[in-house]
Amino acid sequence: MREIRTGVFGLGSVNKNLLSIITEKEDILSQKHGLKFKIVAVSDSGGYAFNSDGYDKELLVSHKENGGRVADLEGFCAKYQPLDDIDLLFEATPVDIKTGGEALETTREALSRGVSVVLANKGPVVHAFQELKKIARENKCGLEFSATVCGGLPVLNIANRDMIAAKTDKFSGIFNGTCNFILDALGKGKSFDDAIKEAQAVGAAEADPSLDTDGWDTAFKLLIIANTLHDADYKLDDVSVTGIAGVTAAAIAEEVKKSNKIKLVATCVDGTLTVAPTVVPADSFLGSCNGWEMGVEIHSDIYGISYHKLYEKEPIPTAASMLRDAVNIFS
Ligand SMILES: NC(=O)c1ccc[n+]([C@@H]2O[C@H](COP(=O)([O-])OP(=O)(O)OC[C@H]3O[C@@H](n4cnc5c(N)ncnc54)[C@H](OP(=O)(O)O)[C@@H]3O)[C@@H](O)[C@H]2O)c1
Repeated sequence: MREIRTGVFGLGSVNKNLLSIITEKEDILSQKHGLKFKIVAVSDSGGYAFNSDGYDKELLVSHKENGGRVADLEGFCAKYQPLDDIDLLFEATPVDIKTGGEALETTREALSRGVSVVLANKGPVVHAFQELKKIARENKCGLEFSATVCGGLPVLNIANRDMIAAKTDKFSGIFNGTCNFILDALGKGKSFDDAIKEAQAVGAAEADPSLDTDGWDTAFKLLIIANTLHDADYKLDDVSVTGIAGVTAAAIAEEVKKSNKIKLVATCVDGTLTVAPTVVPADSFLGSCNGWEMGVEIHSDIYGISYHKLYEKEPIPTAASMLRDAVNIFS
């Protein structure tokens, strides 16, 4: 049995679900994979806490669910300190779109000391994919981030592990539930503002949904998948991004008459990266991704065209992806 001394940064929906899954799956993890995760560091927006003997995972979850703070825990420390004697860091703090933020610094620092990192936060890989990969390689540790794109859908794993020697010059996908919901609501004749309200009412949109509706969340995911598939170093400036603000109920109604839909589609064709509202046949794969569904179709030279779709409402599959990444690193 290998004990993995683990830091859990961010104790929001994703990491709380991750801690619950690790608790629930403890037997499988030990019996099948020979791994036991001991949580020796945690953080939230108020700071960090360190406990070499380990925190109780269920207590951490209930503490946060009941409004508790990391500051209440034994071992609290307002500032981050590089951790000795730690094997793994789960990073699920809010994304900083402009720079990658503190999460990028923490990831760099951890990898440079040989600590493996599993990310749900897209910031570090959007801003420094090749650099972080190099640091991980040089320090013989793992860097995985399958949770950053399409939640539980193992797009990156399929492409890396199961499409050996393939050329994947074309792929396209629907990566953002908020836009799906808003476009559906526009299709029912709602105004854009009412469509946003409807998406907020079903929990599909944030109070400020602009990162989604302007297309940036989709662009981040496109960039991460393209860089991973092509081992490339595309930057955000390489992505042409158009959000859904210009899509009208009338335009959608017109397309419905022709058995089409309008979707926010991310496409990579021969290295050209685009996010834009796109007309797709209603009975096509992309036309069938609605509401909480995300999907990607990958055109490859030797594995045909594959279609992958996931229904994810709660972030449980996203959290499970982080566990999957960790197990892949250590087993
Ligand atoms: N939710 C999903 O379905 C999903 C799917 C894929 C990827 N992601 C990504 O996963 C990450 C986490 O998402 P989430 O839904 O779990 O977010 P969340 O519920 O808002 O939780 C974020 C957590 O990070 C903490 N935090 C905020 N600033 C921090 C800082 N500077 N240092 C340390 N901790 C900090 C928050 O602290 P407090 O508890 O004090 O507020 C909270 O515990 C985001 O980057 C998101 O884009 C989410």
